[in-house]
Amino acid sequence: MDALSFALACPKAELHMHIEGSLEPELAFELAQRNGIALPYANAAELRAAYDFEDLQSFLDLYYACAQVLITERDFHDLMFAYLQRAHADGIVRAEVFFDPQTHTERGIDIKTVIDGLWSGAQEAERRFGISTALILCFLRHLPEQAAFDTLQQAEPYLDRIVGFGLDSSEKGHPPSKFERVFARCRELGKYVVAHAGEEGPPAYITEALDLLKADRIDHGVRSVEDAAVLERVARERIPLTVCPLSNVRLCVFDKMELHTLPQLLAAGANVTLNCDDPAYFGGYLGDNIRAVQAAFDWDIATWYSLARNSLESTFASPAQKASWVARLDAMLHAAS
Ligand code: ADE
Ligand code: ZN
Repeated sequence: MDALSFALACPKAELHMHIEGSLEPELAFELAQRNGIALPYANAAELRAAYDFEDLQSFLDLYYACAQVLITERDFHDLMFAYLQRAHADGIVRAEVFFDPQTHTERGIDIKTVIDGLWSGAQEAERRFGISTALILCFLRHLPEQAAFDTLQQAEPYLDRIVGFGLDSSEKGHPPSKFERVFARCRELGKYVVAHAGEEGPPAYITEALDLLKADRIDHGVRSVEDAAVLERVARERIPLTVCPLSNVRLCVFDKMELHTLPQLLAAGANVTLNCDDPAYFGGYLGDNIRAVQAAFDWDIATWYSLARNSLESTFASPAQKASWVARLDAMLHAAS
């Protein structure tokens, strides 16, 4: 078995994907029609042609506009099921999925509609494919901390369905320190914490996310290489970095894949995982990310094994569940070598 086939087929986890970012143009138009909503594009091809981003904000503007077609529980169900079907095809056994309730509650959609729909989509996928899913509620960092507190309060009846809390949206100018108190409350509730940091923002935001938010994982973290002390710490503490290669190229964090900091992160011994971020917008799902990275870096089976293992061990699943996934991964490694 060659390294690419191994990477695509082996059991792995996806730890950084925004469910709203898996809204394919075709589904966006189907939902727009179903819900009587007008999109500012004539058809799916025209919408896809607008996917030409110069930075994170130019993407977020379109991402929030398209999310307006999501109205009913069934819409959220269909979105989740469609993603998990693709994830299963890429060998993903566990998906820890971000959702942005404020994008919906600000438009008058009840958080119950969002969570019930995502949850039932995940349950259907678990029944049909055996894929395990967990939900991570993300706060939008361009909004005030009080809005995050309000969202947390709305989510309280559903806390048994939420494994952790995250921080996403426009990074620059919105440091983790802005949300220190709300994440303290999330931890008091016994939840895991993740935060986008070091995507467009400086390495100092990674330090803030670790020290102030007590983040269990850092989403992106690719700019850690710009500060030797931050990189050394992230590697020494085995902080999982949920790296999204195609996203970084599409949002011009790096001009091309060959210039991505993945090789430096691996050389420093960082706990790197690969993920798809917003697959409908950035050129594909986890398998597409794997193919693009392999075309640029030509890694061997041992490297792909360690990335898959990092992903499984960095999940928020139980130790017994992780061990059983790792045993499946080990079995595939032995069969391949
Ligand atoms: N929301 C969806 N995708 C995001 C990203 N890559 N960074 C920050 N917020 C996001
Ligand atoms: Zn993201």
